[in-house]
Amino acid sequence: DPAAMRARCEDLRRDGLRLAVVPTMGALHEGHLTLLRAARAAADVVVLTIFVNPTQFGPSEDYARYPRTLEADAAGLAAHGCDLLYAPTVEEMYPYGVEAAVRMHVPRLGDTLCGAFRPGHFDGVATVVTRLLSMAQADLAIFGQKDYQQALVIRHLARDLALPGTIVVGPTVRESNGLAMS
Ligand code: PAF
Repeated sequence: DPAAMRARCEDLRRDGLRLAVVPTMGALHEGHLTLLRAARAAADVVVLTIFVNPTQFGPSEDYARYPRTLEADAAGLAAHGCDLLYAPTVEEMYPYGVEAAVRMHVPRLGDTLCGAFRPGHFDGVATVVTRLLSMAQADLAIFGQKDYQQALVIRHLARDLALPGTIVVGPTVRESNGLAMS
């Protein structure tokens, strides 16, 4: 739960360890593992989060059908350099419920391009990322370049709110036919 996650990260930082956080929605693939390795190279302790975030799905999008593969995801993580897995429930992340959740909005950047077609999507991303970064208080957080607009939204958010840590954008990993892994 968030309190335990915050306390654990605080303990690690108090021990002088450098923390990296890799936020994901699970269904992990080589793209995520590349981010994990980059985190491993840059920090003493790597925290990977898995949370299928309801606030970033629109009413006509597939929140219910989004793949949830927690057990399979967790099985290989230690071998890829992950020290801690944080996989909260919706109730833990949004204690007042999704409808009553305090939300973030990144004007302009979050409203254009993909944001124009998915109203509220980047609000949801900004909302959950703000929560995760404030819980972990890590030295760095890594996001994939594949979601380029998302990376820009998160950079803007982190700088504007002076959220803790550096935002690092990791490389896109592609299938043999060139398609970005997703
Ligand atoms: O890119 C993702 O997987 C998600 O949008 C993120 C950043 C983990 C927030 O839910």
